[in-house]
Amino acid sequence: MSKTYKIAVLPGDGTGPEVVNEGLKVLTVAAAKHNFKLDLVEFDFGGDRYLRTGEVLPDSAVPELKQFHSIYLGAIGHPDVKPGILEKGILLRLRFELDQYINLRPVRLYPGVETPIKDKGPKDIDYVVIRENSGDVYTGAGGFMMKGTPHEVAVQNMLYSRAQVDRCLRWAFQYARKYGKKARGVGDHNTLALVGKTNVLTYVFDLWDRAFNEMGEAEFPDIKREYYHVDATCMWMVKSPEWFDILVTANMFGDIITDLAAITQGGLGIAAGGNINPEGVSMFEPMGGSAPKYRGKNVINPMAAICAGMMMLEHLGEVEAARDIEKAVMAVTGTKLKSMAAGKMGYSTTQVGDLVAERV
Ligand code: IPM
Ligand code: MN
Repeated sequence: MSKTYKIAVLPGDGTGPEVVNEGLKVLTVAAAKHNFKLDLVEFDFGGDRYLRTGEVLPDSAVPELKQFHSIYLGAIGHPDVKPGILEKGILLRLRFELDQYINLRPVRLYPGVETPIKDKGPKDIDYVVIRENSGDVYTGAGGFMMKGTPHEVAVQNMLYSRAQVDRCLRWAFQYARKYGKKARGVGDHNTLALVGKTNVLTYVFDLWDRAFNEMGEAEFPDIKREYYHVDATCMWMVKSPEWFDILVTANMFGDIITDLAAITQGGLGIAAGGNINPEGVSMFEPMGGSAPKYRGKNVINPMAAICAGMMMLEHLGEVEAARDIEKAVMAVTGTKLKSMAAGKMGYSTTQVGDLVAERV
């Protein structure tokens, strides 16, 4: 009996449906080749639905989504909806309510992809950022005082519990053991680096730092530990990305540095991420937004969505199928695409999907 995975598909807004179509095209070919099935159920959450119904996410969504093996997301964001409503109401709500406490962001420059960093190639830009995805200023703790008066105060708290930090770090150490440079045969150590700001955020990153070292010493003595301040990390991401192996950081810093990382690997046309609940339902998404101005034009780059699909298969345990997709993506970026930018690839959205699917 071949395995069947139930996948909730959330194409979302703008160009989301177009890139999701190409992702599914590739996933379907990989599934047939590797003898598993995908049972796809589509949900229309997004800006259009909100404008039509006034409802961002029905209360039934989370319990329904919990019935799936995984969630495949296109993009959320609509030009006619005020910023924040859909992001908070759909994306962040799903991350929180499904407790997807890891945001996994591989940063890999594929062959043929242009990086804005001078003299760096695929060998140099090949690391992973693990962003804590449930705590920090994202919890929304805070508020306004004396709002609208000259004395108005706004507070937004950076919040972390030891348990939140520990579960993220444990996953990160395990990840480093499995996918670090030594494990991949390209280095002498598997290294996990904590990215923080211990020199200023002396409470929150003191907690992270203690948890990191205590856990590393007790449970992962084989993993080399390093610590970098987040500001310095930004410099090195540009100057010496080859230094990095596996990085772990808090939610807000992770949000920022993964955009910087994405541009060094060719931009939002190629960067993908996973919102992972190791004990529950995870959600995979291209990093780019809904790019409404390209909607319906068949010019958006679907590679990021294809890579998100690849990450989903890897997470589901279909490692061979994921490897095939990655090889196909590398062949297409290496020999076909002129650029990662929308409209400049030398191919349409659907043609890029075809090129990858053929090679799988
Ligand atoms: C991301 C995005 C989201 C975040 C936004 C859209 C809420 O920037 O996935 O990185 O801040 O996490
Ligand atoms: Mn972001």
